[in-house]
Amino acid sequence: MILIAHNINKSYYNGEKELRVLKNINLELQKGEIITIMGQSGAGKTTLLNILGTLDSPDNGSVSICGQEISGQTEDELSELRNKHLGFVFQFHHLLPEFTAMENVLMPALISGNENDAKERAVELFDYVGMNERKTHYPAQLSGGERLRVAVLRALILNPDVVLADEPTGNLDVDNADRLLTLFRKINNDYNQAFVITTHNPSVAEIGNRRFILENETLNPVDSI
Ligand SMILES: Nc1ncnc2c1ncn2[C@@H]1O[C@H](COP(=O)(O)OP(=O)(O)OP(=O)(O)O)[C@@H](O)[C@H]1O
Ligand SMILES: [Mg+2]
Repeated sequence: MILIAHNINKSYYNGEKELRVLKNINLELQKGEIITIMGQSGAGKTTLLNILGTLDSPDNGSVSICGQEISGQTEDELSELRNKHLGFVFQFHHLLPEFTAMENVLMPALISGNENDAKERAVELFDYVGMNERKTHYPAQLSGGERLRVAVLRALILNPDVVLADEPTGNLDVDNADRLLTLFRKINNDYNQAFVITTHNPSVAEIGNRRFILENETLNPVDSI
């Protein structure tokens, strides 16, 4: 099991006022599996994904990643764990504008000191997504779909156990969204890469081997709805 979330609860507070977002959420992700989480805007998808990705902590409940319980770990330990096991595609791609596509993809490797091995992999990855000719482009010189593919390569560069993708097709037109989904399927097939993908779009959710809906603070399998 790559990821186990058990009884996750999360509320935000605005002064005294409690906004409950997640209630007793359970989720298990196996190797090579694609899980999709559907939910309307404000349902708590980003909150949940951030908790699964150790970027935020739950009020209670536990998250373990590749057998490691995350509660009680220091920030340094968590960042090492993220580097080793997790890749992120954020809701807004967050490419660094002053770095080229290649430099953006290599950034996680640079930060964790794995730069040399990563260069070869980065070249392969650009080739893999048909972007050989775009490596030295800056984000502003890429199309929206290309930017997102660069963000996906950045998530893959350190060979993560799971890629957490938050609303990855949110800002793409239908064609680019289709291309991205095709790419996710291909990566899943070729590398047995596991994904957790959030979306508000039912056709994106179909990519999941298992599909869930986040609604009224709870996570339910789509088939039971
Ligand atoms: N830091 C915060 N402080 C207070 N409330 C927050 C905070 N972050 C999110 N919220 C609230 O929690 C709820 C869930 O937010 P979240 O971003 O997880 O939703 P989402 O499903 O990702 O929405 P979207 O599809 O629009 O991205 C929202 O009502 C939001 O206003
Ligand atoms: Mg969100």
